[in-house]
Amino acid sequence: MTLRAVVKGVGHYLPERVVPNSEFEARIDTSDEWIRSRTGIERRHIVAEGQTTTDIAARAARAALADAGLTVADIDALIVATSTPDLTFPSVASMVQGELGMEQGFAFDVQAVCAGFIFALTNADGLIRSGQANRVLVIGAETFSRLMDWEDRTTSVLFGDGAGALVLEGAEGERGILASDLHSDGRFRDLLYVDGGTSTGTTGHLKMQGREIFRHAVEKLAATAHTSLEKAGLSADDVDWIVPHQANLRIISATAQRMGLPMEKVVVTVQDHGNTSAASIPLALSVGKERGQIKQGDVVVTEAIGGGLAWGSAVIRW
Ligand code: UT7
Repeated sequence: MTLRAVVKGVGHYLPERVVPNSEFEARIDTSDEWIRSRTGIERRHIVAEGQTTTDIAARAARAALADAGLTVADIDALIVATSTPDLTFPSVASMVQGELGMEQGFAFDVQAVCAGFIFALTNADGLIRSGQANRVLVIGAETFSRLMDWEDRTTSVLFGDGAGALVLEGAEGERGILASDLHSDGRFRDLLYVDGGTSTGTTGHLKMQGREIFRHAVEKLAATAHTSLEKAGLSADDVDWIVPHQANLRIISATAQRMGLPMEKVVVTVQDHGNTSAASIPLALSVGKERGQIKQGDVVVTEAIGGGLAWGSAVIRW
């Protein structure tokens, strides 16, 4: 028997405020029609003033713990995937650990932008399989609204805030993370970045060459999904659900098409959440379970690409 990281619980949190495309129409030179037809996005959630990445991460964590029937005292390690930490340090994970009253174990952040959750998941899988931790809380949480130049129509309409979390537990059997595949290529770092940080003393704004990222995404996402499936000894025919990074409906459908899978097998939430970066996959996993799409035993392929460029995929038997 093989020790695997099995999903015990999943949960999410979305900020209360919903911003429909029409709010942008009123402020900048864009239209609901352009945003819908080019991206599939209809609305997104935005945090309230003063609401932090730590706050929404902790709420998602509590929801996942409740779904798992566990408490924070049962958790050995906590990983947060985020590119929007509230402070340069300590990590959001440390702040969530404090917020949850978790007095044992260890906590750290993973930063791989929109692919962050795949990188965090793969780290958690390694910790579990090496015996370093048995129960790991993996959170994706972002407040990308704080990185937007609200006058820039090419970026501000695309992103939203939110958080999702999984509780993983080491167990022997058929279920769990079956394989994963990670990549990055720093030659493409200028395609998607934030022009702030310690070098400028400002938080900065997100800058993106959207068309170029689109081209890389379509090419790289199906390839990494294929590699993960191959590592797991499975093929596209075995897949019950693709849970892709939710950036653009056109990327999502082009990737499914390249994988030879119909849209009926894809969990799509981009219309309601926009692009929530590292939160998008755990949010979609949680919503997919809530909708009754993802069920125990299903083979789920998840894939993402973002700034770095960094990209990857994982295959989970749910
Ligand atoms: O999660 C991290 C990874 N990021 C992504 O996956 C994003 C990948 N890229 C995309 O999703 C798409 O490239 C975008 C949605 C960002 C843009 O869609 P596109 O079909 O690639 O459009 P484009 O950038 O080629 O722009 C087409 C036109 C341009 O006008 P001109 O130059 O043809 O006159 C833009 O200025 O659309 C214009 N445009 C807009 N028009 C109305 C750009 N943004 C807007 C807007 N409203 N919000």
